Amino acid sequence: MSDTLGEMRRTHHCNEVGTGQIGSEVVLMGWVQRRRDHGGVIFVDLRDREGITQVVFNPLVDEEIHKKAHMIRSEFVLGVRGKVEHRPEGMINPNLKTGEIEVLVTELKILNMAQTPPFMIENSVDVSEDIRLKHRHIDLRRPELQKNIILRHKAAASVRHYLNANGFLDIETPVLTKSTPEGARDYLVPSRVNLGLFYALPQSPQLFKQLLMIAGFDRYYQIVRCFRDEDLRADRQPEFTQIDIEMSFIGEEDIMNMTEGLVAAVFKDVLDMDLKRPFDRLPYHEAVGRFGLDKPDLRFDLELKDVSDIVEGSGFKVFANVVKKGGIVKALNAKGCSGFTRKETDDLGEFVTVYRAKGLAWIKVKEDSWQSPIAKFFTDAEKEALTERIQMEPGDLVFFVADQPKIVNDALGHLRNHLGKKLGLIDENEFRFVWVTQFPMFEYDETEKRYQALHHPFTAPLDEDFDKLTSDPLSVRSRAYDMVLNGSEIGGGSIRIHDRALQEKVLSGLGMEKAEYEEKFGFLLSALDSGAPPHGGLAFGFDRLVMLLCGQSSIRDVIAFPKTQRAACLLTDAPSTTSREQLLELSLKVLSDK
Ligand code: AMO
Ligand code: AMP
Repeated sequence: MSDTLGEMRRTHHCNEVGTGQIGSEVVLMGWVQRRRDHGGVIFVDLRDREGITQVVFNPLVDEEIHKKAHMIRSEFVLGVRGKVEHRPEGMINPNLKTGEIEVLVTELKILNMAQTPPFMIENSVDVSEDIRLKHRHIDLRRPELQKNIILRHKAAASVRHYLNANGFLDIETPVLTKSTPEGARDYLVPSRVNLGLFYALPQSPQLFKQLLMIAGFDRYYQIVRCFRDEDLRADRQPEFTQIDIEMSFIGEEDIMNMTEGLVAAVFKDVLDMDLKRPFDRLPYHEAVGRFGLDKPDLRFDLELKDVSDIVEGSGFKVFANVVKKGGIVKALNAKGCSGFTRKETDDLGEFVTVYRAKGLAWIKVKEDSWQSPIAKFFTDAEKEALTERIQMEPGDLVFFVADQPKIVNDALGHLRNHLGKKLGLIDENEFRFVWVTQFPMFEYDETEKRYQALHHPFTAPLDEDFDKLTSDPLSVRSRAYDMVLNGSEIGGGSIRIHDRALQEKVLSGLGMEKAEYEEKFGFLLSALDSGAPPHGGLAFGFDRLVMLLCGQSSIRDVIAFPKTQRAACLLTDAPSTTSREQLLELSLKVLSDK
């Protein structure tokens, strides 16, 4: 049986009681972190979202209450009234904010009992993530997660404060809507009143925010849920949150300035940290050329070097043939790593196969020779040229990948990040921002045999590349930009097309017939005809931003109720089957069992 609250009301949180309250009476409410029985006196660490206070049940103070305290177990919910006292000499806990005091209990209410929790409520909990997610309400009690979720709230409050102060309007957009192409599959919702028709959940509010600019709202923002059915990873969820922003009468610089200011305000408000501005800028081609990825981690150097011209005529046929067929060969110099074991180089070879590399050649640079399976294929002149290009010195270990540029850059870019971690080159306390700009407009999808928009199809091309839109689409650069923090893409946006003719040209460049794009985007096209201002914007991945602010490596740790890699909620068991009646009502039939 649990006690009711009655007249008892909390006076302090469990982090708030200190030497200032000594001698006065306080009322605390919270959960039992731990109960210890010490020779008749019972100590309980009482926990709430703010912290922990030690409360004491002494039979000499009140025998009845002390007796009742014997029932207390972990995670029971208590209300206690008592007097704040100095802890005796030697009992002070310097690691606890309230470590100098304890509360001598004079009234105890057991507000609720609790089953033994499936795991300890502490930071370094030793159970699988699945178990934690199944009992998420208990998992969320752990101090680390409480801290993350509270920090997330502070970040959201800071975002709103900054954008409100800069004249942005918070405007909601529909969740039951039409497909917005952001590169993922849609989540569909069947319509009962329009049998056979479906809404799509928004992959982003992209088209609505453009319509709001056309409607004259000038500056828009929304902290908004987006839905994407895509392969999940540590930094991807099927539903995630964007800070979505759009502005009228602006260019790239205005948006970059405004959004850098936003991030700077959040870091100041949340971490009391001043960011160095403006952030660095890297055109896409330079980022990929030097670091392999369009989201480079600039906390460490280690750059890729293209050696295609040196090896194209070499006796190592793997390299020579790749270059002949239009591929490239690039190298990565792991300084001072010539001591790597055979197993270590083999493991790295295995690592790059994930990125579709067919091999990972290597050279260990010794004092007067190269140790390498491929050294014998190179002439002295080639060796000299490689040494100079890659700045090879005794003690170095150089890796090579030969393939199509996309594979080479991807494999060596990820190997670079991997080595950065493995070799301890990264200062984990640093926050390194960079803008990656001038993304290509299109990429060619080999499986679908057609062009795709690299950002989205509403992104404007660079003026000077206009005339290549039909003649050489792959060389057209766009007015898109990404904000990258420590190798993670935390935001992306672009200047939009505000001219109907250009928008139609881009849509048809993407292989759509007029009838198709009219059906999908007719509403946008006619809006562009109705007086569309020049406009552009950006969306931050709010979960990713908060993840980095919290020093976490998975966005699941900053989302109260996240989904698993299989897009399931283990707490509620979603997704789940539905009744025959409900399916019938929607005129739906499930073909396979699961
Ligand atoms: P984009 O598709 O680049 O742009 O998305 C913006 C940011 O959202 C984050 N993000 C994700 N976070 C978690 N889980 C996911 N599945 C996920 N997908 C994306 C990333 C990304 O940088 N409408 C455009 C924005 C614009 O042009 O203004 C858009 O959605 O951090
Ligand atoms: P092989 O001649 O196939 O035994 O390859 C010799 C070395 O070259 C091995 O270390 C392979 O991992 C490496 N290698 C093979 N193909 C490639 C490639 N496409 N890029 C880089 N290294 C490769």
